[in-house]
Amino acid sequence: MSHEKLEKNVALMGILIAVVISFGGLAEIVPLMFQAEAIKPTPGVKPYPALQLAGRDIYVREGCYGCHSQMVRTLRFETARYGHYSLAGESVYDRPFQWGSKRTGPDLARVGGRYSDDWHRVHLINPRDVVPESNMPGYPWLEKGKIDSAGVVARMQALKALGDPYSDEDIAGAAAAVENKTEMDALVAYLQGLGKHAPRPGERDTEVAGGGQP
Ligand code: HEC
Repeated sequence: MSHEKLEKNVALMGILIAVVISFGGLAEIVPLMFQAEAIKPTPGVKPYPALQLAGRDIYVREGCYGCHSQMVRTLRFETARYGHYSLAGESVYDRPFQWGSKRTGPDLARVGGRYSDDWHRVHLINPRDVVPESNMPGYPWLEKGKIDSAGVVARMQALKALGDPYSDEDIAGAAAAVENKTEMDALVAYLQGLGKHAPRPGERDTEVAGGGQP
């Protein structure tokens, strides 16, 4: 087929452009699907317990990702500030993942255990009470919102159907685990779990079975 014919046929040209572009995408995506370390959980990483799962949904609902990433990059100044860089195997149970690139506030991938639960509560109600120069908004309504236990159970069942290894006991105990908990309790539990199974600073990812591309 001559070039001229091709250029004058808009539909054919469009289809061929799509085919050419999709090669680029496939070359990046397909190898990832066969890379065991990108889909295997890092040791210790388990599906979110009920309360943390509820907290994660609140994190997503409130749009915390609009200002916070959850991915420590392999750059020295990042690992010096936050800890070991993020591994793919740490977020296998994150649907959707919260990596992001927008950092109005600090990265939160390793924030678990950095502050007390009480610090988080005060900070989430009014950040300026603990960090005077903060421009993070307050989320005082989280103290009043209750967790919908039936919703949490349904979400765990859905995640199990998608392949997350929740046991029947995990699901049976979910309603009791979130009973009488506020949205604040759930969000704080979620934040305190972030990075719990990260490799220790300085530990190389090659020493961690299931470690993957940063
Ligand atoms: C408009 C941007 C913005 C939004 C939205 C936002 N934050 Fe922040 N966040 C910040 C900034 C800026 C800081 C640094 C100052 C501070 O500590 O308050 C921060 C700090 C934090 C810290 C302390 C991190 C550390 O290592 O010191 C936590 C935890 C946190 N935010 C959680 C959240 C959660 C959870 C949400 C959603 C409910 C949220 N943020 C929404 C901007 C934001």
